[in-house]
Amino acid sequence: MNTIDTGFVYPNYNPPQHLLDALRDLSANDSWKTHQYPIFRGELRLRRAITKLNEPLVKRHIDADREVLVTVGAIQALDLAAKSYVSPGDDPRFFHRSNKTADIFNGKEADTFLEIEMLSHQYKSLSFASNYPNYMPSKHMMQAFRSVAQNETTYAIHHLGSCRGDPRLRAAIAYLYSILMKRPIHADKEIAVTTGAMQALYLLAKAYINAGDEVIMFEPFFKRLEIIIKISGGIPVFVPLNTVSGQKARQSNDLTFNRKELEAAFTNRTKMIWLVNPNNPTGKIFTEEELLFIGELCKKHDVIILSDEVYQFHTFEGPKHTRIATLPGLWSRTVTVNSGGKIFSSTGWRIGWIIGPEELLWGVYIGMNALVRAPPTPTQMAFAIGLEMENKILNTDESYYQSLVKYTIAKRDRMLKILSDAGIDFVKPNSGQVVMANFTNVINKIDLSTESDQKADFRLMNWLMKHKQKIVTLFSIS
Ligand SMILES: Cc1ncc(COP(=O)(O)O)c(C=O)c1O
Repeated sequence: MNTIDTGFVYPNYNPPQHLLDALRDLSANDSWKTHQYPIFRGELRLRRAITKLNEPLVKRHIDADREVLVTVGAIQALDLAAKSYVSPGDDPRFFHRSNKTADIFNGKEADTFLEIEMLSHQYKSLSFASNYPNYMPSKHMMQAFRSVAQNETTYAIHHLGSCRGDPRLRAAIAYLYSILMKRPIHADKEIAVTTGAMQALYLLAKAYINAGDEVIMFEPFFKRLEIIIKISGGIPVFVPLNTVSGQKARQSNDLTFNRKELEAAFTNRTKMIWLVNPNNPTGKIFTEEELLFIGELCKKHDVIILSDEVYQFHTFEGPKHTRIATLPGLWSRTVTVNSGGKIFSSTGWRIGWIIGPEELLWGVYIGMNALVRAPPTPTQMAFAIGLEMENKILNTDESYYQSLVKYTIAKRDRMLKILSDAGIDFVKPNSGQVVMANFTNVINKIDLSTESDQKADFRLMNWLMKHKQKIVTLFSIS
């Protein structure tokens, strides 16, 4: 039955012509920055335009840098405002923090990514910390983006879509993952499209973690995950990755976990395990044997597995990447998180998705509907068309997944040579986009006395930023 839903407030016509023109012009522009991670406060040009619109309305000057924050729709703005409170201030380096800021967003640890971004701006530093590509998205994604941006006949491209994600995109994802996961994936019930993998993680935390629930993670860990777990009231429990011998790892696949330590981490409060495989920041690819062991513990303790696989196509050496959801008996308790930005070098489009059993996705649909409504439609549409093209050339030499590996290996090897020539020790990553380097050899050769931070790595980062215009992610926060 075709029903008109009067509960949705979206127009059945196009936005104004100059918005359509702007989108078309943007699609004709070959600047990679248009397609990669935007600055967290929103594009400066947009913030300035917003300022101009609002100053006469509120009859006061608005500082576009500190008093405007762009969000993914107004509902996300409300969600963020409920969690934090940011007020403008006069500190040239950092935002002045309101004493009303929620505890979780108050403090150096939570601030670090913001600080890095703002400092890199101030010192005009090259940031190695933001891991986004400085090149254009894949050829097919760009073709698709242009076709969407130039289509002025379908107003639906510009309006709110389903909270599960655009059906055409879900169908393209279902096609691909039915092959990759060797099981039919139901496009309507087993996929949730999100605004980047980051939002997938956030919604999964909201959907499954109650205050006091424990969540197991391997250490070192991607700092943002810890913050997301804590926002939901969860308690992260860490299990270290180490070499069997306790010696330094030469490459990331030398790392593993101690089975007894992992077993001991499970308690009757354990709700989830958050696995990042391939792993960020180490670059380790978990073996099938390790995943089977993890899976058995999760079955025994009735624990949900969140498998963050955003680097699934960035694997270089060592064991083939195994999707834990495909192992015997694990589909029903596993949600797998993916990032369109990572796969097709389109980090700014903010497309991610979760694949999992219907009952585990239900909470995500509820959260998406309540907190965000839906990811942006134009980039979902473009992604759907691009992915359809990519699906047709899967497993051929033309496939972007293959060129991505070659390209990333070349970049990794170049970076390792630079580190090696500089006498800096590192663990060679067998996957991903991150190199863990040990600065002990160089730190003693630099005069860091001008830096006052308590942590040595923060002192080094500040020094590098000011004197070498380079930024690295710190191990203590990554
Ligand atoms: C392990 C991991 N998960 C998730 C993300 C976020 O991906 P997205 O850009 O799709 O939000 C990143 C980004 O660096 C990551 O490294």
